[in-house]
Amino acid sequence: MSTSPQLGPRRGSDLKDLGIIHDAAVLCLGGKIVSVGSTQDALRDPWIRKHRKKITEIDCSGKVVLPGFVDSHAHPVFVSPRLIDFEKRIEGASYEQIAAAGGGIRSSLEGVRKAAKSALIAKVADVLRDMAAYGTTTVEAKSGYGLTVESEMKSLEVIKQAASRWPGTVVPTLLGAHVVPKEFQGCSQKYVEIVCKEMIPRAAERKLARFVDVFCDKGAFTSEETEQIFQAAAQHGLSVRAHMGQLSETRLAPFLRFDPASFDHMDHVHDDDVAALAKSDTVATLVPGANYFLGLKDYPNARRLIDAGVAVALATDYNPGTSPTISMPMAMSLACTHMKMSPAEAIAAATINGAWALRLADRKGSIEPGKDADLAVFDVEDYREIPYWFGANHCSMTIANGVIVKRD
Ligand code: NIG
Ligand code: FE
Repeated sequence: MSTSPQLGPRRGSDLKDLGIIHDAAVLCLGGKIVSVGSTQDALRDPWIRKHRKKITEIDCSGKVVLPGFVDSHAHPVFVSPRLIDFEKRIEGASYEQIAAAGGGIRSSLEGVRKAAKSALIAKVADVLRDMAAYGTTTVEAKSGYGLTVESEMKSLEVIKQAASRWPGTVVPTLLGAHVVPKEFQGCSQKYVEIVCKEMIPRAAERKLARFVDVFCDKGAFTSEETEQIFQAAAQHGLSVRAHMGQLSETRLAPFLRFDPASFDHMDHVHDDDVAALAKSDTVATLVPGANYFLGLKDYPNARRLIDAGVAVALATDYNPGTSPTISMPMAMSLACTHMKMSPAEAIAAATINGAWALRLADRKGSIEPGKDADLAVFDVEDYREIPYWFGANHCSMTIANGVIVKRD
């Protein structure tokens, strides 16, 4: 799949244009892609002929090779699954009812606050390894289950340490504004000040985060609070993104002046905001795993966004409350069956547009000379089989920054 980074994220009918090369060969050197073309051309290339003995050849015949997936929305720093929430929901309680009754995000805080850093690092490292086994080579990793200055910084340090042990690429995000912790219930403004005046400056100064995220929704943070947090992020040189429109509609256009990299979830979006987003480089990152796991009948309206020209990405939203999946192929399958995205659109949304959502499209998301050698090999004959065989893992090899991280 090829693309030109200067053209911007894939929109509209371009989203399904994968630029497939049959019988292809990819030459990688020093963790970068050097050339891409047909096997025939590669075998005729004088440089390749001269160095053939020194080149490690990986035979992918009969298989599909994609750019490694870019999972641009994940919350890997937590301790325990939320099994009580899971059962309550099966019995009929909603996400908001469970949160109001003491479950939800707040019930994950104690685990992270008490956890030893080494235990958290081991957990995140395991998640990164497992994600790579499904073809993911770039992961955005949010803090957000500590919600004290100390535990948020600890979560970001954990991400940094786990990332340093993994050949893939990790993009750290501060999500101190995930929910108002119960110590600050009724005085959310005090908590927002801690996010703005302590968490953001510290994360920026120690270069522990690339982005600041906010859960802007009922039961979490208001538009005004989100704006304050975005302002603080901008002052400290951090880019912004936000959970938007998951439970209720928030008007988005006023936030575009902060040039957000992405608005995520997007179940509820105003028509005028769809038009405004189509004119911006802010990506709409859809996370259908959350709708699936919450047992919702409705999914984000991907067709409306794509057809209007909004740049759409897909991600897992890996987290213990709404989407405990590490599988990008599963997110793609849900996108096809429930959001009517074609398999080709799902692939572009899970690769190049994910890279745009992380502002990494110059290095990630497509198989092009000059980009990082991030490749996922699938033991299928046709790319459409990747979302088709839902729940199965057909990824037989993953290469991240030129390193084989998974091989069957
Ligand atoms: O993306 N909506 C906010 N954050 C997560 C849920 C986190 C949780 O329930 O633990 C999400 O769905
Ligand atoms: Fe999320």
